[in-house]
Amino acid sequence: MGSILKDVELKENIPTTVIFSKHIEFLTDYGQQKESYEAVMTDYLRMSGMYWCLTALELINTSPFPKNDIVEFIKSCQDTESGGISASNDHDPHLLYTLSAVQILCLYDSLDAIDLEGVTRYVASLQNPDGSFAGDKWGEIDTRFSFCAVATLSLIKKLDVINIDKAVEFVKSCMNFDGGFGSRPQSESHAGLIYCCVAFLSITGKLDIVNQDNLAWWLCERQLPSGGLNGRPEKLPDVCYSWWVLSSLAMLGRLHWIDRNALKKYILACQDIETGGFADRPGDMPDPYHTLFGLAALSLLGLESIEKVNAAFCMPQSVIDKLQIHIQMLQ
Ligand code: FPP
Ligand code: ZN
Repeated sequence: MGSILKDVELKENIPTTVIFSKHIEFLTDYGQQKESYEAVMTDYLRMSGMYWCLTALELINTSPFPKNDIVEFIKSCQDTESGGISASNDHDPHLLYTLSAVQILCLYDSLDAIDLEGVTRYVASLQNPDGSFAGDKWGEIDTRFSFCAVATLSLIKKLDVINIDKAVEFVKSCMNFDGGFGSRPQSESHAGLIYCCVAFLSITGKLDIVNQDNLAWWLCERQLPSGGLNGRPEKLPDVCYSWWVLSSLAMLGRLHWIDRNALKKYILACQDIETGGFADRPGDMPDPYHTLFGLAALSLLGLESIEKVNAAFCMPQSVIDKLQIHIQMLQ
C-alpha cells in the first residue's frame, strides 16, 4: 500500500542565501523581550528558549548578551533540594531544562557556577529500575529523557553515576521493526525520538546496537519532493526535522543518502526576510526553535559561514572539543 505524500511547493522568489544580519536581529530581540505576550506565554520553557537563541547566535559567531546575567538567571533556577533546574523562576525542575541550563553554561565556560553535585544527584534520582528515565518527579517516561540524562551527565563528566547498561537496555526496547525508535516500547518511530535514541547511543558508545542501514533508509525516506524533511510518513516537511533527521544520519555515517542541495534550498526558503528567523515551512511565523535547528542543519550540510555543530549535543563542536568529549559516529 502506498502512502499519501503531503508537501509544500517552493515559490520562485525564495531566499537562496543565509540572511545572517536579520537572524542576529531576530534572536537578539527575542532574548530581550521580558514582558511581551510571547515572553510571558513561553515562560514555562524559558531555559530551553535561551539555549535555542544563544546556541543559534554562537553558531553564527555572535554573543550579544552579558554572560553574568545569564549565569545568574540559571543559578536562580536551580532547586536547592532536588538539585534540578527549572525553565524559569518559580517553576518545577525538569530534566529538559536541566540539560538546557548545562548546555548554556558549557557555551559560557561557567559550569562551576552551579551546584554540579546537585545536578548529578537530580539526574541519577530519575532513573527507574528498568533503566528508563522520568522527566521529573511526576514520573512521565520517554526516550527524550534518557537522552537528556546522558547528555547532561556527559557534559559534567558524571556518566558513571547511572546504570548505563540498564539505560541502554531500555532504549533498545524502544527499537521498532523498521529500525526506528519511539518514546516508549511499542511506540511508533518518530524522527525526533530517533535523534534522542541515536544521540543517546552515540554518547554512551553503544551505536553498534542499531540496524544501521534500515534506520538510515527510514530516515532518508523523510525527504520530500520540495527537498524538506518530515518527521514521520504522511506528515508535512518541517525545518526542525532537517536537524532531527540529518544529525541522526550524520551519527550513522549516512549523511550522503540525502539530497543535500534540495534540503539546503528548502531550509533557506523557510527564512523570513523581513523579520529574520526561520519558520517550520516557507511563509509561516519564524521562531528561535526552528532558527536554531535550521542553522544547525545548514552547518551539518557544510555551510562554511556557520560554525561546525556537534551532531549529538547540538552545540558548537569547538565547545565539545574544549570539554574533551568524544561521541561515537558510525562509518
Ligand atoms: C519533535 O517534537 C521533537 C522531538 C520529539 C525531539 C525532542 C528532543 C529533545 C527535547 C531533547 C533535547 C534536544 C536537543 C537538541 C538538545 P514535536 O512535539 O514537535 O513532534 P511533532 O512534530 O510530532 O509534533
Ligand atoms: Zn518543527
